[in-house]
Amino acid sequence: MTVRHFLKDSSVSPGEQAQILNLALKVKAHRWNRRPLTGPRAVAVLTDKPTLRTQLSFCVGVAELGGYPMFVDGKLAGVGQRESVADVARVLGRQVSAIVWRTYGQDRIEEMAAHVNVPVINALTDDFHPCQVLADLLTVAEHRGGVKRLRGAKLAYFGDGANNMAHSYLLGGATAGMNVVIATPDGYRPKAEILTEAQAIAEVTGAQVSVTADVAAAASAADVVATDTWVSMGQEGDAAARRAPFVPFRVDDALMAAAAPEAIFLHCLPAYRGNEVTESVIDGPQSRVWDEAENRLHAQKALLIWLLRQAGLKRVAPAGSYDAAMMPSAGAAMGVGS
Ligand code: NVA
Repeated sequence: MTVRHFLKDSSVSPGEQAQILNLALKVKAHRWNRRPLTGPRAVAVLTDKPTLRTQLSFCVGVAELGGYPMFVDGKLAGVGQRESVADVARVLGRQVSAIVWRTYGQDRIEEMAAHVNVPVINALTDDFHPCQVLADLLTVAEHRGGVKRLRGAKLAYFGDGANNMAHSYLLGGATAGMNVVIATPDGYRPKAEILTEAQAIAEVTGAQVSVTADVAAAASAADVVATDTWVSMGQEGDAAARRAPFVPFRVDDALMAAAAPEAIFLHCLPAYRGNEVTESVIDGPQSRVWDEAENRLHAQKALLIWLLRQAGLKRVAPAGSYDAAMMPSAGAAMGVGS
């Protein structure tokens, strides 16, 4: 059995992404009737960076699925310092059913995934924030009346085009068949290889992806307007230098007026009112940021259910059942344990 991971938005195919989003709609509508982690089976939720929504939504979600969320402070654990990522992976992989990790380099989460045979979920790296974009897609699908209606919708993102949200909008949006426009200053364009990957996905799904410094063109007729902080976690030392280039990309009332009449505003939070978005927009009638934050819970529960099914966990785990596929010792059998 090949274990599937969710390390970036393109870890799932367009069809699989639609399955997960449709499952998320069902999970949200019937919040308490799926308990595949009954046992309770544990899920490790590790973070090397600050967190509110990620810790909350994964821990609540795992509990609602009948499992036990084991929160691990990455600084205390010293992943990659006190012991290697591979050794941490080998230890965790024998005791938990899935690993959720917020960290810095994408290489770290890839290394974790290479040394376990339980699903690894990217809960934000410097390059990607795929769980957030899954929640955003769910929010857009709800607003537009279904997952199929994502196709062709224009999502315009304003701000740091080289950060995790911009990259995940490119990959996740292209996977959903959307028209993704990243509006960013010239020095902050997305990584070339990520843009290339998004373009390749777009060719398959009929999506469009583009990068521009033209704010008006990006905003024009947008169905979804999104932004993010100008200073991501780990960039605090550059905060002063990162302000001036982004001021023209602030989402304000004039920008929203250029978007489609039914446009919604999204922000992964935390938000810095007066910087990347005005108070009037984030607290205004087009804002869906609180639905978006709640949808982390539903989208991630669906993702966990889907990944655990791929890993062989039975659809319904009867009370007291024991699933050999998820046994800790399976890691050794795969030759990845020690
Ligand atoms: N780009 C932001 C997202 C926060 C959820 C960061 O990485 O800090």
